[in-house]
Amino acid sequence: MNQLLLSLLFLFYLSPNLHAQQNYSGNAVMDCDNSDATGPSPAFLYTCNGKNRSCQAFLIYKSQPPYNTISSISNLLSADPLELARINNFSSSAVFPTDKEEIVPVLCSCSGKYYQATTSYTIPSNYDTYFTIANYTYEGLATCSSLIHENNYSEFGLDIGMKLQVPLRCACPTSNQTKNGTKYLLSYLVSWGDEVRNVSRRFNASTNSVTYANGFTEDNPTVFPFTTILIPLSNEPSSSQTIIHYSLPEATGEVESRLLGTRTRKKTSVRLPDAVAYVLLLYSSTML
Ligand SMILES: *[C@@H]1O[C@H](CO)[C@@H](O)[C@H](O)[C@H]1NC(C)=O
Ligand SMILES: *[C@@H]1O[C@H](CO)[C@@H](O)[C@H](O)[C@H]1NC(C)=O
Ligand SMILES: *[C@@H]1O[C@H](CO)[C@@H](O)[C@H](O)[C@H]1NC(C)=O
Ligand SMILES: *[C@@H]1O[C@H](CO)[C@@H](O)[C@H](O)[C@H]1NC(C)=O
Ligand SMILES: *[C@@H]1O[C@H](CO)[C@@H](O)[C@H](O)[C@H]1NC(C)=O
Ligand SMILES: *[C@@H]1O[C@H](CO)[C@@H](O)[C@H](O)[C@H]1NC(C)=O
Ligand SMILES: *[C@@H]1O[C@H](CO)[C@@H](O)[C@H](O)[C@H]1NC(C)=O
Ligand SMILES: *[C@@H]1O[C@H](CO)[C@@H](O)[C@H](O)[C@H]1NC(C)=O
Ligand SMILES: *[C@@H]1O[C@H](CO)[C@@H](O)[C@H](O)[C@H]1NC(C)=O
Repeated sequence: MNQLLLSLLFLFYLSPNLHAQQNYSGNAVMDCDNSDATGPSPAFLYTCNGKNRSCQAFLIYKSQPPYNTISSISNLLSADPLELARINNFSSSAVFPTDKEEIVPVLCSCSGKYYQATTSYTIPSNYDTYFTIANYTYEGLATCSSLIHENNYSEFGLDIGMKLQVPLRCACPTSNQTKNGTKYLLSYLVSWGDEVRNVSRRFNASTNSVTYANGFTEDNPTVFPFTTILIPLSNEPSSSQTIIHYSLPEATGEVESRLLGTRTRKKTSVRLPDAVAYVLLLYSSTML
């Protein structure tokens, strides 16, 4: 009895803010069997409810081989390579370090009940499923349910060379947000260890505006890796606001071995300044 009451209270506590501009999906995006028959579901994409039916929007994508150059990322996400290079302050031939956040400018438009930035993906391997494409290739910028909905290939019939339509999660500001000075919404990809408060500060957004944008019921709610949250921006985002995430052990090993110029893959986690110091140390010891 008490437990029932507690779980009811818990559900009430978790239920989205009615005036929210969008609702946070939580881990529902990890499920491929979501339904939106009764209305828009945040496990698919963001609801088309803004002031404009299309707008300039920004996504965060973390570079991972083979998607670690301007050309491969712009192909994967159908973004303009020149814009991508400009906004990330990067030369078009350079290689991004693994797990470096890239800002991706996209055109976001309503398609049916959802906003989406549209791209397409040609399946490169036998191991791909709608889930792996959404979670691994697109890192959560696409969702399994919306991929299934958008493509008529059966879930188990995906094969090399098939071309999928991939809607990416983006949104346009509502009139309430526009009134408050929001010009763009950034679809931020949550990483391990991220806190909403810190991410908001990094992108110069008030906690209030982020809480309101995502229908959060508390100021620093729990958010899950490989989901997106919306960050309202009053200016274009800048590469100086992006960071490299070091939480995945394999990724750290790769960055480290690249920095050291060796092929060893140590699993110890290092921070960039340490790695740079280590390279300098090795360098100076060879000079002696
Ligand atoms: C805008 O804000 C007002 C007052 O806070 C609220 O009543 C209204 O529902 C909001 N509109 C939308 C579209 O959320
Ligand atoms: C957010 O969820 C609430 C409650 O389920 C719903 O009333 C509201 O329409 C949703 N907002 C959007 C933008 O989907
Ligand atoms: C909405 O459309 C108007 C008119 O085209 C434009 O001036 C404004 O910048 C757009 N707002 C957003 C948020 O894209
Ligand atoms: C999604 O991908 C990440 C790695 O990119 C992985 O750690 C995580 O377990 C995946 N999620 C699920 C539910 O498999
Ligand atoms: C998808 O739908 C189109 C048009 O209805 C059809 O031509 C095509 O064969 C379908 N593909 C599959 C795999 O069912
Ligand atoms: C507008 O900004 C004020 C002050 O930061 C905040 O309290 C309010 O919730 C914001 N409203 C919207 C619609 O974002
Ligand atoms: C977030 O910021 C708080 C205080 O500014 C800090 O204590 C905390 O370690 C930060 N969390 C992360 C994950 O960076
Ligand atoms: C941060 O936002 C405030 C107002 O919200 C603005 O005045 C300031 O210029 C912004 N700072 C940066 C670095 O964008
Ligand atoms: C862009 O890169 C150059 C050189 O790498 C650096 O001096 C400059 O501060 C960077 N600009 C921004 C906005 O980060």
